Amino acid sequence: MLKVTRFTVAAIAACACAYAAVVQADAPDAPSPEQIKKGSVTYSQNCSPCHGPRMLDPQGAFDLRIFPRDEKSRFLTSVSKGKNQMPPWGGLLSKDDIEALWAYVIAGEK
Ligand code: HEC
Repeated sequence: MLKVTRFTVAAIAACACAYAAVVQADAPDAPSPEQIKKGSVTYSQNCSPCHGPRMLDPQGAFDLRIFPRDEKSRFLTSVSKGKNQMPPWGGLLSKDDIEALWAYVIAGEK
């Protein structure tokens, strides 16, 4: 009886693991909640003065809520190198910070 139980537990664990691997493979870019949180903090410290608190009031700057979700490399380039009136952030923020910002932008504000 005990043997069966152990085996069952192991089988379930193995299944869960395989499932997690599949889910990850399907969405390698899916941001974690921690990353989104980190991005929102970085955003409020650096980006909100121009793009609006929580991306909600961008005034003259780009409305990040409509930034195309399939143009991640454009996002990384514009943010790290700057664009027109927007200063470059590459010297101030790490690659990880900018990745977290992207996670925050694509997750959106609710
Ligand atoms: C000094 C004001 C200012 C700050 C601070 C600022 N931005 Fe911007 N941002 C702008 C303006 C203005 C534009 C529009 C640039 C253009 O297209 O002419 C812009 C455009 C953008 C774009 C669109 C670029 C594109 O490819 O069209 C992204 C993405 C962006 N900002 C992200 C950020 C992030 C992330 C931060 C914080 C790290 C940030 N911005 C901070 C002013 C700012």
